[in-house]
Amino acid sequence: MLDSGRNLQATIRCANEGDISSVMEVNMRTLPENYWYGFYKYVLERWGDLFLVAEIKGSIVGYIMNRVEDTRDPVLYGRRNELVKYERRGKLGIIVKSIKSTFLESHKVGHVISIAVLLEYRKKGIGSSLLDEAIRQMKANYGVDAVYLEVRVSNYDAISLYEKFGFRKARVIRSYYRDGEDAYVMVKDDLG
Ligand code: ACO
Ligand code: ZN
Repeated sequence: MLDSGRNLQATIRCANEGDISSVMEVNMRTLPENYWYGFYKYVLERWGDLFLVAEIKGSIVGYIMNRVEDTRDPVLYGRRNELVKYERRGKLGIIVKSIKSTFLESHKVGHVISIAVLLEYRKKGIGSSLLDEAIRQMKANYGVDAVYLEVRVSNYDAISLYEKFGFRKARVIRSYYRDGEDAYVMVKDDLG
C-alpha cells in the first residue's frame, strides 16, 4: 500500500546507464512517444546532469530528460509569442525585431525532451521535483536563457504543471504527433 500524499518521499538523482531500461519501462507505460535505447544513451552521455530519475525504495517511478540547444528562433527563448495577439511594438516593430534576432542572436535554451511519472505515483509532487531540479541544473550548468518543450494540446495535467512553473503557451505546431494531434510549444523565460 502506498503512503498517501506528502509522506511519500522520492529521491531525485542523476540517471546512469543502468537506469535506462527502467526509464524506458516508465516511458512505455506512460507516453505514446517512445525512443530507442541508443537515444537515451546518447542523451545521458551528452547531458547526464540533466537526465534525472525519481526513485522510491530502489525503483524508478519517474524521469526527466533534457538537452541544451542553440537557437535563433525568438519563440524558443521567449522573445516572441505567436499566441499573443496584441503587442506594444506593433507589426513593423515585431518584424524588425524578429529579423534582427533571426540574423544576429543565438540563444542557449533548455529543451525538456520528456518527463513522466508512473500513474500510481502522480499528484504527489514528483513531477514538480523533477522539473524543478532540471531547470535549476540547466541554469547553473549551462546558463540557458529559457527552457521550452512541446506538449499535446489535450494533455491538461502536463500543461497545468508547466503553467504552475511559469511556462507559457507560445506556438502551436499542427499535427506534431504521429496520430495527428497538435502540440503547444511552451516557454519559460523567467528562470529566477
Ligand atoms: N497532494 C496532492 N496533489 C499534489 C501534491 C500532493 N502532495 N503535490 C502536487 N500535487 C498536485 C500539483 O499541484 C499538480 O496539480 P495541478 O497540476 O492541478 O496544479 C499535480 O499534483 C501534478 O503535479 P506533480 O504531482 O508535481 O506532478 P506529477 O508527479 O503528477 O507528474 C506529469 C506530472 C509528469 C505530467 C504526469 O502527469 C505524467 O507522467 N503524465 C503522463 C506523461 C506525460 O504526459 N508527460 C508530459 C508529456 S510532454 C513532455 O514530456 C515535454
Ligand atoms: Zn521536444
